[in-house]
Amino acid sequence: MTIWVPTLSGEGPRYRQLATAIGRAIESRELGPGTRLPPQRRLAHALGVTVGTITRAYGEAERQGWVEARVGSGTYVRGGRESPGFSHVSVTRENDGWIDLSLAMPPGDAERDAGLRRALAGIQADPTALAHALDYQPEGGLDAHRNIYARWMTELGLPVDADELIIDQGGMNGIFIALCTLAGPGRRVAAERLTYPGLISVAGQLGQRLVALDHDADGLAVDTLAARHDQQPFDVLYVMPEHQNPTTARLDEARRAALAAFAREREVWIVEDGVQHLPAAERGTPLYRLAPERTVYLFSVSKILSGGLRSGAMRVPAAIRERVSAAVRNISWMPPPLIASVVGHWIASGDADRVRTRQFDELAARAAMTRAALSGFDLRLRAGGFYAWLELPPGQRAARVVERLAAERIKVNAAEAFCVGSEAAPQAIRICFSAARDRAALADALARIRGVVASPELQAWQTI
Ligand SMILES: Cc1ncc(COP(=O)(O)O)c(C=O)c1O
Repeated sequence: MTIWVPTLSGEGPRYRQLATAIGRAIESRELGPGTRLPPQRRLAHALGVTVGTITRAYGEAERQGWVEARVGSGTYVRGGRESPGFSHVSVTRENDGWIDLSLAMPPGDAERDAGLRRALAGIQADPTALAHALDYQPEGGLDAHRNIYARWMTELGLPVDADELIIDQGGMNGIFIALCTLAGPGRRVAAERLTYPGLISVAGQLGQRLVALDHDADGLAVDTLAARHDQQPFDVLYVMPEHQNPTTARLDEARRAALAAFAREREVWIVEDGVQHLPAAERGTPLYRLAPERTVYLFSVSKILSGGLRSGAMRVPAAIRERVSAAVRNISWMPPPLIASVVGHWIASGDADRVRTRQFDELAARAAMTRAALSGFDLRLRAGGFYAWLELPPGQRAARVVERLAAERIKVNAAEAFCVGSEAAPQAIRICFSAARDRAALADALARIRGVVASPELQAWQTI
């Protein structure tokens, strides 16, 4: 079997020449995402250098974020594989016997279903909406729909003009459009070490390199950004300032201001993900208000009304509006006008606000249940949030806890699902209490989660 053997050239030690050659080969796509680098011994032999030189070169390439070492398997060019936890919707709340707390889904209720029925009836009685539904429309969405979105977002404490909005097909679609607009293949996108798996997956698919940023209980460690950017310059910084997924952290105002200043100084684009929507009292100043010319804000109805509708809106700076529009055209011409009409009717009737209020009440009740059931553990959750972040007691391993819970037909995510880069994940799990079919199912699941997490048998097993 032939292996990739670069020609080493330039100044400096051989290991650095090899690391540079790896970087160049990735940049030129000679080594595509997911490609395994040659076994160290064989490459050492082919290049006439020691194995130690290869090890150092691969280590340097990993430090640069170009490749990742996978234990027992080799070293691979980053990208080209989904993050391990990017969920395929495999079990749903309807599925027999399973309680799926792995997906951040809004709690369903009969009122929500009635709201959809009324929105559909409204469209049937609305000749303009019906005519719009059947025709091609502008890529940013119809003015009528952008106006409704802008009014609603403004009422929710997210002041925007309709002209700044591009209607899209929800948060994932917004992430994809933003990343392919703001950074090309081989470019760097930075995100917190633990981040939304959809972002990891999209960057991988687009052949972009991820840079892992430090964060703590108060969110992104903004004071480390400049040094990180010096080391590995990145074009885009993806962040969830209101309700970090998965840790639930919220960025304080001082960090927000410093982040906006950093983005301006270094000319970095911010992708601000506001999909996990919280009550206004739980939110701070949106980054797009602090650095409007550098920030794309992602809004979606998925966590307010329904994940099945596939509708949202991106607030984009004027300078990149045309580039974003081109991406929308290339992906799907336009957002489906029928769906935007459904959302429009739902919002205009006031039903959307009623769903939102009821949902926050339901989430508050479920958060209280979760707190009570897991009292004494290191648990983080926020008012209006969908999930809790549970740091496991010493000795517990997240993978084993997930496995044990799966044996009891309960699905949660281990921290590994959210990991950027190859560093070890913390021993923690995310529990989406919003997703349980009802409170009875949640109570059942929480009791069993407590049983597993507190299980001395499990701890004993772990310490063997
Ligand atoms: C932080 C974050 N961004 C984006 C999304 C995707 O949202 P949507 O369903 O609107 O595509 C999710 C869904 O869980 C999310 O948690």
